[in-house]
Amino acid sequence: MYDDNPTLAGIKKEIDESRQGEAFYQDQQAGTGLDEGRLFYIESYGCQMNFSDSEIVASILAEAGYNPTRELEAASLILINTCSIREKAEETVRKRLRLFNQLKRQRPGTLVGVLGCMAERLKKKLLEEEKLVDLVIGPDAYRDLPALIQNAEDGEKGINVLLSREETYADISPLRLGSNGVTAFISIMRGCDNMCSFCVVPFTRGRERSRNAFSILAEAQSLYDNGYREVTLLGQNVDSYKWENPESGQAVTFAQLLVMVAQLDPNLRVRFSTSHPKDITDEVLFAMSQYENICNYIHLPVQSGNSRILELMNRTYSREWYMNKVRRIYEIIPDCAISSDIITGFCSETEAEHQDTLSMIEFANYSMSYMFFYSERPGTLAARKYPDDVPMKIKKRRLQEVIELQTQVSYQHNLADIGKTFQVLIEGDSKRSAEAFKGRNPQNKMIVFPKADGLKPGDYVWVKINEATSATLKGEIVEINGDG
Ligand code: SAH
Ligand code: SF4
Ligand code: F3S
Repeated sequence: MYDDNPTLAGIKKEIDESRQGEAFYQDQQAGTGLDEGRLFYIESYGCQMNFSDSEIVASILAEAGYNPTRELEAASLILINTCSIREKAEETVRKRLRLFNQLKRQRPGTLVGVLGCMAERLKKKLLEEEKLVDLVIGPDAYRDLPALIQNAEDGEKGINVLLSREETYADISPLRLGSNGVTAFISIMRGCDNMCSFCVVPFTRGRERSRNAFSILAEAQSLYDNGYREVTLLGQNVDSYKWENPESGQAVTFAQLLVMVAQLDPNLRVRFSTSHPKDITDEVLFAMSQYENICNYIHLPVQSGNSRILELMNRTYSREWYMNKVRRIYEIIPDCAISSDIITGFCSETEAEHQDTLSMIEFANYSMSYMFFYSERPGTLAARKYPDDVPMKIKKRRLQEVIELQTQVSYQHNLADIGKTFQVLIEGDSKRSAEAFKGRNPQNKMIVFPKADGLKPGDYVWVKINEATSATLKGEIVEINGDG
């Protein structure tokens, strides 16, 4: 997920602040090697949900006779799946759009489409501001893409940014783009009903809705049958997953869904992201401790360690409440790794309140964090109610302090793993050497270790840790156990 370099990659991302990097927040180019017919190129920004959506889009387009290409120059349709979470994320997209527009001038007839959260946030404005954009399609309108492309080919600009209360794309089998063939994401819900005051997601993604549990199980099973060995269940707030079976009238909760996916096969690892601290239940924690293949790792964003700021952020928990949740997690799952998202310099944050965030990093002993300085987003509660009054210099200095402390805490966290042996799922070659494999332990730490004969991505091995930096674990294979 963060390649050989979990913490550092995380930190680098925070510094460039646009939440792109590898897998989690990477800009990804599609391609399956097919090159017949009309070719589309898709690039994705933002969270995993967006990457997962791009695979749905690719599937819809493939049905309509388009094939993906990794080569921008070869494509007659260029799509960019965008993120609005921070200003920087939008700036990056605008830069790419300018480049696409140059291409379009050189190759008239090329269509450029904006998908995702920026499309939803800016709507028609995008067509007006970025004159060379042909299509604007919001996250709930992807089924309409083929029709809109058709219209655009006839010279008519296309826009559909309608949000839906039902759409989950449950029946669409994603076309896995740039996949390692071992790990995959499965979207289990869409939208968000929380109203964190800093956050644009409820506006760009609409109301929360949960996907049919059977379609999730079928997707996980089909991934397993195709050699995948790890699925990450995705949602902005997975713990509030709730799907009612229309036939039996029975509701499936997230804990139940987790168990059902885990029961598909003990060799299929299950992960999930993101957990809102207010919603993660003991049932989920018990399921994690009971099932070996539910990975002992929770991404539990705190945002701030101070109760007054948390209230302004509308996170609905206090510092003490969050601390109790962390205690509970370590009590039920002693070897669980917890990671976080942190925002520095939120409206009116004082120096003492910032110190509370620093002390929370130590208290929770995060294995890693994604760290950002606050970026005001138009239309959000915070933008309407609270002045963005912490000077940029201070926001950045606080961010630097948070990053430095988290780096130390991650280093200690990793040092504590030396001498331990973990089950690792091999994901592929290490970035730095073809002689070494990389793979993650259940706690989501990337481990690099020398190859051994007969092993391939998708196999499980037991690796003993010999070395650690703040970013990487290195070890050696002590036992091979195939995936049965
Ligand atoms: N649903 C997830 C978060 C999705 S957004 C959750 O609730 O945890 C990912 C992260 O981006 C957030 O956790 C937050 O730390 C950060 N973020 C969101 N809005 C932001 C803003 N306006 N400025 C800076 N960081 C922001
Ligand atoms: Fe945004 Fe909060 Fe929803 Fe996460 S839970 S997506 S931070 S509103
Ligand atoms: Fe960005 Fe939208 Fe995800 S704003 S973080 S791509 S839900």
